[in-house]
Amino acid sequence: MRMFMKLLVATRNKHKLREIREILAELDLDIVSASDIPGLPEVVEDESTIRDNAIKKAVETARFTKMLTLADDSGLEVDALKGAPGVHSARYAGEEVSYPENNKKLLRNLRGVPLEKRTARFRCVAALADANGLVDVVEGISNGLIIETERGGGGFGYDPLFIADGQVKTFAELTPEVKNRISHRAKALHKAWAMLNRYLRERQ
Ligand code: IMP
Repeated sequence: MRMFMKLLVATRNKHKLREIREILAELDLDIVSASDIPGLPEVVEDESTIRDNAIKKAVETARFTKMLTLADDSGLEVDALKGAPGVHSARYAGEEVSYPENNKKLLRNLRGVPLEKRTARFRCVAALADANGLVDVVEGISNGLIIETERGGGGFGYDPLFIADGQVKTFAELTPEVKNRISHRAKALHKAWAMLNRYLRERQ
């Protein structure tokens, strides 16, 4: 008989959860989300790197719930801005701001920078922890360029300004199927699949 281990995905974001469920589908896991755990405290994401925020979220959530927990954190790093917005991607233009306001600030800060110097990457880090602490960390990167005007109505966040290497369309112009195949999150989650598979095998 197949044994299913419970995996808590430390997010309340339905889009992320769907993507994670799809990618991890054939593992022997019963996936639940932060919304399924009553009283789960919000982890304060106050570390100085994307990686440390993902680790903190996974470790604190696993310690609280005693469950195997996967947490991810992501952001955009722009070379001409010395890696900004980076860990501050969600609140680049201030607390509680909208995606277009962040995009406007990004374009303002890159004004006058020629296209060849507008190199950037989306980074996604996925951390796995259990009640004993951190198990492992993996990372996915999507390299590309920040263009000068927004294009496309799909996706979210900085998608209308980002063209991944090898593409002509922005992330916001690609279909979700294509974006979810080449994105930093997809790459991190495929590595997370291998990390979880190893974890399950070691405990069989
Ligand atoms: P999160 O903490 O992983 O949800 O992501 C932090 C921020 O990074 C988001 O609010 C977005 O501003 C940015 N970001 C992360 N992934 C993407 C993406 O795939 N497209 C556009 N923006 C993203």
